[in-house]
Amino acid sequence: MLFDRVKPLDAILVTAEKKSLKRTLGPIQLMLFGIGCIIGTGIFVLTAAGAQKAGPGLMLAFVIAGLVCVVAALCYAEIAAMIPVAGSAYTYSYATVGELLAWTVGWALILEYAIAASAVSVGWSGYFSGTILNEFFGIQLPRWLAAGPLALGGEPGGFVNLPAMFIALLITGLLMLGTSESARVNAVLVAIKVAALTIFIALTFTSPEFDVGRFNPFLPAGLMGPGGSGVGAVGAAATIFFAYVGFDAVSTAAEETRNPQRNVPIGLVGSLLFCTIFYVLVAAGAIGTIGGQPIMGPGGIPFPAGSEELARQCALPQHAAALVCSDEALAHVLRQIGFSGVGNMLGIAAFLALPSVILVLLFAQTRIFFVMSRDGLLPEILSRVHPRWNTPHVVTAITGIIVAVGSAFFPVGALADIANAGTLYAFLMVAVAVMMLRRRDPERQRHFRVPALWLIGPATILGCAFLFLNLPAEAMLVLPVWSVIGLVLYFGYSRRRSAVGRGVMEAHETGYADMSPHLPGVDEGREP
Ligand code: ALA
Repeated sequence: MLFDRVKPLDAILVTAEKKSLKRTLGPIQLMLFGIGCIIGTGIFVLTAAGAQKAGPGLMLAFVIAGLVCVVAALCYAEIAAMIPVAGSAYTYSYATVGELLAWTVGWALILEYAIAASAVSVGWSGYFSGTILNEFFGIQLPRWLAAGPLALGGEPGGFVNLPAMFIALLITGLLMLGTSESARVNAVLVAIKVAALTIFIALTFTSPEFDVGRFNPFLPAGLMGPGGSGVGAVGAAATIFFAYVGFDAVSTAAEETRNPQRNVPIGLVGSLLFCTIFYVLVAAGAIGTIGGQPIMGPGGIPFPAGSEELARQCALPQHAAALVCSDEALAHVLRQIGFSGVGNMLGIAAFLALPSVILVLLFAQTRIFFVMSRDGLLPEILSRVHPRWNTPHVVTAITGIIVAVGSAFFPVGALADIANAGTLYAFLMVAVAVMMLRRRDPERQRHFRVPALWLIGPATILGCAFLFLNLPAEAMLVLPVWSVIGLVLYFGYSRRRSAVGRGVMEAHETGYADMSPHLPGVDEGREP
């Protein structure tokens, strides 16, 4: 009774036909789009939090998280090419495991996209305050205006993160007006980010400061840390998994891709592998030059990243230069090894490029709310499209305010961990959906098939569960608590109003097709 509301795949595909987007994207455009979504706060900022958990083992952490993402990406590729419509994991689940679980996935995706957008806003704020205000204009923003409150684990004296709030609201405004990033702007921003990371790698590896001795001990907190502490290389992998979040947005462009059987997996896996290699090299360069050993607390366990204790340690003069204490990890490394000017350039690169990551995440979030509203599970007002701007302005404004509040009061590490919890759940459900569809609907045309699905699918499920269980306890707890809130809403409101439940399958298909639905960073070619 509870699991019987499955949205028929054919009804979902009607949407795709109505949208009838031109297949214009090739593998390079997809990879550029993927890299545009992926490289952001994770590498530019969370490198510090990752090093605090794993020390030099951060390099291994990037590999572990990257591997989990690659297997998940393959599952995404199959289902996205098969069901190339809006809504991502939420829609896929609706067609397979039914409305109730689809609701939980959609609900968890709020954590992925909205909270991740908050995290990237906080990451941007660090570079804005540190590089733009401080280095260029000599303005030191008072601590209480530059970080969230201490009680939540921020830097000492934080109250509200004004720059983070500002950027979140600015991007919201742009999205409401229908601003989308063109493929060309995305390509330029990708070039800036990749150039910044390449220069970082070149300067650190050739620096006289580079010393292999700094990689010893390689795993100061072990592979997994003492039980439940969420540290060690695996704990760090669970946190810096954030550095890969966003690649799933590539899957949503499957409908616009030429020869998706070949190009979607190349785009997904290619952008992930590219970023993994860069991330490992960046981590090696940072640790090899200024070291990345964690600041240890009682019992030889590193102080939790973003905690009050760590903030207090970082305020001590002997830790002033530590990688694990920096808000702008990569610029900090370059300044420490005598390249202040280049460090500032890298800061500008982050300042310029991170807003486009916020844009994609916010965009994805509003579209998921939009589809859930169109399905009747959320109030109808959320799928209202502005007559002139052609955007879902109401849902965009509400999402933007949530994101801005999150970024104003929470530290980046905690936000990233919570976003990871929601994302891991969504990835896991995508793997379940792919396997179920292979069983239930083996004859349906698949533009891409996961090779060895019965290995890759379970590997995705286990990998996601494993990383989830290595998140800090608070982040892990957020998911069940959030799900309970979601279920109360579902049974109190959504279930009665569901379009599928009422037998109205196609009532809302026009709105999305009429509004400008294409992803930022991808130039869409719509058939007339
Ligand atoms: N992967 C994206 C970032 O690191 C979300 O900012």
